[in-house]
Amino acid sequence: MQVIKGRNVVVVGTQWGDEGKGKLVDWLTESAQGVVRFQGGHNAGHTLVINGVKTALHLIPSGIMRPGVKCYIGNGVVLSAAKLFEEIEGLERVGVEVRGRLRISEACPLILPFHVALDLAREAAREMGGNAKIGTTGRGIGPAYEDKVARRALRVQDLKHPERFAHKLRELLGLHNHVLSTYLGSTNFDFGPTLQAYLRAGRLDFDAVFDEAMRHAELLRPMMADVSRELNEAHLKGANLLFEGAQGTLLDVDHGTYPYVTSSNCVAGNAAAGAGVGPGMLHYILGITKAYCTRVGGGPFPTELDWEKPGTPGYHLSTVGAEKGVTTGRSRRCGWFDAALLKRSAQVNGLSGLCITKLDVLDGLPELLLCTGYDLDGERTDILPMGAEDISRCKPVYETLEGWSGSTVGVTQFERLPMQARFYLQRIEQITGVPIHMVSTSPDRDHTIMMRHPFLAD
Ligand code: GDP
Ligand code: IMO
Ligand code: MG
Repeated sequence: MQVIKGRNVVVVGTQWGDEGKGKLVDWLTESAQGVVRFQGGHNAGHTLVINGVKTALHLIPSGIMRPGVKCYIGNGVVLSAAKLFEEIEGLERVGVEVRGRLRISEACPLILPFHVALDLAREAAREMGGNAKIGTTGRGIGPAYEDKVARRALRVQDLKHPERFAHKLRELLGLHNHVLSTYLGSTNFDFGPTLQAYLRAGRLDFDAVFDEAMRHAELLRPMMADVSRELNEAHLKGANLLFEGAQGTLLDVDHGTYPYVTSSNCVAGNAAAGAGVGPGMLHYILGITKAYCTRVGGGPFPTELDWEKPGTPGYHLSTVGAEKGVTTGRSRRCGWFDAALLKRSAQVNGLSGLCITKLDVLDGLPELLLCTGYDLDGERTDILPMGAEDISRCKPVYETLEGWSGSTVGVTQFERLPMQARFYLQRIEQITGVPIHMVSTSPDRDHTIMMRHPFLAD
């Protein structure tokens, strides 16, 4: 019997997140039967605009808006059941069927209320100790990954066994309550109204955490799955799969601006480990890249501009680009395009092609600066170095390009772009060595230029 195997595409952010991954995953899902999240948690905020209607997703794969498409949460994701059900209910209220299409790996580590408490208290402690905050999303992501790596995490499969769950939870609470109260001074800390329900004198209460987890267990059971097996079987039956990255390469725990990073590997290689498929199943890696740069939270950003001062290019990017975070509502820092950073991203992801998003935001800027390398301690380098300390000493070296005055909003053909815009894109290709296969010209699903389709290109 001849087996027709599917073709699989990985979508990753190549900068500091918020590149427009959600829009592109939703759009590409037209050609896929399954969409898989493989890392991160509900720190992600992916925006989809369909016929003018906006949907923000945090944990559920962006394929959910296409009826009939299966969505998978792989083992590499840290899962808050409370936030998952909030999101499911929100989608159900607008008529999107979720529960019959969502499969959740039994191996996902759980995010529980004490992870959120630790995240918040640690950020406060960093600040009090004179260190800059990481500027986390405060969702408990880092502490949940710490428990995973320390081999003590409660996982989705533990929810099926109340006694086992209770035993492990007691041990975890013993450790984390000790850290919270004696080291992080939680008795005097204001954790806010959501966490209050679980707290007694600065310590997380066993019954409150356990009872809620057991309520979630019942609701989660029908969606719990061996995601690795289901993906491999779907692949063998010819299904096309889309692996949806969250965050971005410069937030990757190894390759990013460490320690100002998230706590997972955001790079394409982790699509295999975080979903339970072999790397040979990943056929095409699409790097989503904003036509300029943004960053939320702390950490170095070599091409950052003053984005709060009216009349400046930075202000233009911030306001025209509507650069406010989907998850925390914080303003995103803005700056010029950094091709030397993209070189690092192309290298660590093995990008097959780029999708440049938000090109329309550059409309009307008389000139555009493009960073081609840095001066680092008097030496010239053409690729972003590793780690926050070295990166913070990088002085960008710029090339100046002519801007354009016409509008690119909604353009769907490359030839229709102003000549200067085409030149800007070609220059990015030349410097990074990665071909541009797609360009996005508005938040809307259909406002996309396709030069080479990831599900067809070799
Ligand atoms: P993600 O986290 O990578 O999925 O990106 P976000 O959704 O957090 O942020 C991207 C923002 O830009 C969202 O508000 C999108 O609706 C919007 N967006 C995506 N592509 C484009 C585009 O080509 N042009 C404009 N103007 N907005 C876009
Ligand atoms: P999407 O998927 C932008 C940032 C936070 C912080 C750092 C660590 O929408 O692109 P964490 O809560 O993960 O421990 O925070 O990472 N961050 C993001 N920035 N987009 C995201 O996701 C992000 N997820 C985390 O702002 O600087
Ligand atoms: Mg986002």
